[in-house]
Amino acid sequence: MKQIANFTSPKTFKATELTADNAQLVEVEKPFDELKNGEVWIQIKASPINPSDLAMLAGTYPHLKTYPFVPGLEASGIVVASGGGFMANFLLGKRVACSAPATGDGTWAEFMKAPAANCIPLRKKLSFEQGASAIVNPLTALALTERVKKSDSKSFVNTAAAGALGKMIIKLAKAENLIPINIVRRPAQVDELKALGATVVLDASQADFEKHLQEQYETLKPLVILDAIGGEFSNTLLSLAPNESTLVTYASLSKDFLHLHPAPIIRYGKKVEGFHLAYYLSHQSKLKLIGFTRKAQKLMIEGTLASHIHHKFSLPEINQAIAIYSNQMSDGKYILCFD
Ligand SMILES: NC(=O)c1ccc[n+]([C@@H]2O[C@H](COP(=O)([O-])OP(=O)(O)OC[C@H]3O[C@@H](n4cnc5c(N)ncnc54)[C@H](OP(=O)(O)O)[C@@H]3O)[C@@H](O)[C@H]2O)c1
Repeated sequence: MKQIANFTSPKTFKATELTADNAQLVEVEKPFDELKNGEVWIQIKASPINPSDLAMLAGTYPHLKTYPFVPGLEASGIVVASGGGFMANFLLGKRVACSAPATGDGTWAEFMKAPAANCIPLRKKLSFEQGASAIVNPLTALALTERVKKSDSKSFVNTAAAGALGKMIIKLAKAENLIPINIVRRPAQVDELKALGATVVLDASQADFEKHLQEQYETLKPLVILDAIGGEFSNTLLSLAPNESTLVTYASLSKDFLHLHPAPIIRYGKKVEGFHLAYYLSHQSKLKLIGFTRKAQKLMIEGTLASHIHHKFSLPEINQAIAIYSNQMSDGKYILCFD
């Protein structure tokens, strides 16, 4: 195992472990063991709590891990050791954004072992706090906006619009001259998004929401509905939508299945498709991936794809941070920080 200069590998390191669905996380010591060829040890600097982490903790996120395991799906850090191989050796000493391996332990720990392919070098101008969220939301915002641009309409529906991803989509759409019909679920979020420059913001908690949605559908004729909600709400979105429109389901914040009436699909050419970032990335060429991550980091530095960091916390505070974040997700990112 090759290591960076001035780094003495510890025998063990601190991590949090999940022992069962919905269990409180427990602090444990993990061994800093040998690497296989192509693997690296990353010293974690910062890692966010994302909605997909909450689903993982609840046991509702499809994964290949076995209990107990360290949760956490993305982070930033420094590659401190390499198990050999071109990519792993190239990354040695580099600041990186990284995602957790499909099996094994994740990012909510002082160190994470991962295949070198799970790391992306971070540009100097990106802090570790911003870099911690450099993969999941920025790349998803770019991919979903690209999907909208393939449709024959300048307008689209942006659900969960007050969340971190929703706000990135709003800013990207503005740069691309697209018009999102943004949907939130609290009155205060309408003002917040209008202050960001959003022109159309509908509050789904209002009694006349469906009437306003229909008016916007008739005026703007969106053909892509980016749906992060699921449940009965997806049926409302698709059944009122223009003929030939496509509902792109990419999350299930309602924690419910898609309840879709078949008539709009059978009769009016409406469609349903799914989006998952890892699946999408695994179907792109290496060249496209390089271009994509470069573009994402450039737009993060410029602010378009930057995440608002609401709260930083340390490893012993993790259970408390998860409880607070779960109830106020639109406040901004909750970031686990080391140092
Ligand atoms: N498929 C993929 O590859 C992919 C990639 C990236 C993200 N995602 C998903 O995209 C979603 C948004 O991510 P994010 O980082 O933007 O999350 P976030 O910053 O935590 O924001 C979540 C947003 O969803 C709203 N929300 C939560 N539960 C809701 C419900 N039942 N009905 C309506 N709105 C609800 C929240 O509103 P309040 O503030 O009112 O709670 C908040 O505005 C997540 O579900 C995430 O897993 C999927």
